Amino acid sequence: MKILIATEKPFAADAVQKIKQVIDKAGFEFILLEKYTNKSQLLSAVKDVNAIIIRSDEIDAEVLDSAKQLKIVVRAGAGYDNVDLNAATAHGVVVMNTPGQNSNAVAELALGLMVYAARNMYDGSSGTELMGKKLGIHAYGNVGRNVARIAKGFRMEVYAYDAFVPAETIEKDGIKALASVEELYATCPYVSLHIPATPETKNSINFALLEKMPKKAVLINTARKEVINEADLVKLMEARPDFKYLTDIMPSNDAELKTRFPQRYFTTPKKMGAQTSEANNNAGIAAANQIADFFKTGNTKFQVNK
Ligand code: 3PG
Repeated sequence: MKILIATEKPFAADAVQKIKQVIDKAGFEFILLEKYTNKSQLLSAVKDVNAIIIRSDEIDAEVLDSAKQLKIVVRAGAGYDNVDLNAATAHGVVVMNTPGQNSNAVAELALGLMVYAARNMYDGSSGTELMGKKLGIHAYGNVGRNVARIAKGFRMEVYAYDAFVPAETIEKDGIKALASVEELYATCPYVSLHIPATPETKNSINFALLEKMPKKAVLINTARKEVINEADLVKLMEARPDFKYLTDIMPSNDAELKTRFPQRYFTTPKKMGAQTSEANNNAGIAAANQIADFFKTGNTKFQVNK
């Protein structure tokens, strides 16, 4: 069995070694393609492999066509919008993710961005504190739950809305469940986004929703850039000089936002919520174990293209 790690944005070196150990122990061959700059490199690397571990790397029909021996793709992480699930199913390829493995890392970054916003992007001026402020968590999955846990440590007043998680589940964690997404945005000056990018959520964070946010609003996006209506975000930032947007997923209109709203907009150069050694180890080792288990026992527990 040939197992390829294909990561344009590499795992930490120690995580790569640990992943290799799992693959070696299973008696499989380990192949590494890191920091590739061209899709043709991916197309040639996948040619004779049986499994691929990826991060945000795009697996589309063309990649699947090239990978004639491929049986399984594991996205070492949560969101799998970078994999064409229908094409994978059509090619008979199982797709899995590793839910929860990198969620603390993303949650810590979300809180870090909140502090950065509250302290005026560390420009030395007098800012504000998070204690006592209302935080709205938009989607209460693995990352949302970790954000709630850390925000409680900051003594923020934590609210959440999730279309798929019952209010009782949220309330059990001591978090106030709100009945609608509109109510969440209207209640909380801090909102942290944790929704996946799906046809339903793409462009859903729009002017009508954002303008409901109370004064001194801060929107944190460590989810996906596609969920933001970017034209509406510009319109909102024009209309609301008190509004800040901080993200680790560079928007398509980064240059415009940077030029027009330098004090109220921040992005990291690369998506980095899950860029910690711990998250890379957790997600990468889980991915390798899931592959070993799949080939040895047929376990498809984390399959997402059923
Ligand atoms: C995820 O969906 O797991 C996160 O967005 C992390 O993505 P990354 O592996 O590209 O950093």
